[in-house]
Amino acid sequence: MSNHDFDQAKFEELQGKVMGDVGGAIGVLMSYIGDQAGVYRVLEEVGPCSHEELSAKAGIDARYLREWLSSNAAAGYIDYDAANDTFSLSPEQAALFAHEGEPTCMQGFFESIVSQYASYETAVDVFKTGKGRPWSDHLPCCFCGTDRFFRPGYAANLVESWIPALEGVEAKLEAGAKVADIACGHGSSTILLAERYPNSTIHGFDFHPPSIEEAKDKAEKAGVRNVEFQVVSAKEFPGNDFDLACIFDALHDMGDPVGAAAHIKASLKSDGTFMLVEPLAADSLGENLNLLAAIFYGFSTTICVPTSRSQEVGLALGAQAGEKRLTEVLNEAGFGNVRRAAETPTNMVLEARA
Ligand SMILES: C[S@@+](CC[C@H](N)C(=O)[O-])C[C@H]1O[C@@H](n2cnc3c(N)ncnc32)[C@H](O)[C@@H]1O
Repeated sequence: MSNHDFDQAKFEELQGKVMGDVGGAIGVLMSYIGDQAGVYRVLEEVGPCSHEELSAKAGIDARYLREWLSSNAAAGYIDYDAANDTFSLSPEQAALFAHEGEPTCMQGFFESIVSQYASYETAVDVFKTGKGRPWSDHLPCCFCGTDRFFRPGYAANLVESWIPALEGVEAKLEAGAKVADIACGHGSSTILLAERYPNSTIHGFDFHPPSIEEAKDKAEKAGVRNVEFQVVSAKEFPGNDFDLACIFDALHDMGDPVGAAAHIKASLKSDGTFMLVEPLAADSLGENLNLLAAIFYGFSTTICVPTSRSQEVGLALGAQAGEKRLTEVLNEAGFGNVRRAAETPTNMVLEARA
């Protein structure tokens, strides 16, 4: 028996919240299907229209589309005009569901969540057995979703506020510096740095070959010449003369973050800087009981902790490690000076120096 008395009002409050979450869980899938089928974009272009008109424009079966539109309308994701039997996207709905690449767009988040549902059997097995799950074991939509989810935040903050918040780094990058972007994934942060600082050379490293292939493709499409990508682990990338090393939302995924940070320290010039970007978190679970933390702890359970567990040491910092724990890791790796240089509603930026 629980040591709490059953409180009907509390139960109904929680039940209401959970029903909202159930609606959200199916809403995320519906929205992702619409994203992948290109429906939101066409609906925004066409404006208020019947499901038959939209079916013709979007090339989607009319009956399926009617059901999908009805689900979206009932969820409030799109508007429905009952008098005319037409559907439309308001500017606010378009910002959330249709505007790829803008910080308001939720589709990267949705793609990441769908990727975890899609491989739930493995997640259950990993959870029950306690074994690791390599990053490479996830579905391709996990890698694309991760990039789509993080890229808008980097585009909005990296060169505008994070680099300027570091001591003396911006001037070095303007003049021409050597930069390492470790665990760069699809290379969005690498390319942003390369575009903004054409005199510098930005090296993107990641141990996941398909991600490095994608990063190379993106750099080619963006027409940036001052990037170099290489498949290599965070403890083995070459060079000992970097002015700046960065890790974006990946140190906590590593099995041996202390070893990786120690390798980074050895790869930097004596006056070099390590910029560590990690999900925003407080230092204890008690201070972390909020929606953002619930989301990050969720991804951490299925992605971050298993990725770390699959590598040597398997420290499993988790995606909500917090500044205090991250500072300990950096201190242990030999960085004596660590400070929080910047933060956004979702990320913290630590500056580490020898
Ligand atoms: C959450 S993703 C972040 C990717 C990218 N930095 C971004 O912000 O979009 C984590 C990345 O860490 C990489 N990774 C994990 N452990 C690594 C290791 N030990 N060495 C190199 N890369 C690693 C994965 O391949 C993956 O690309």
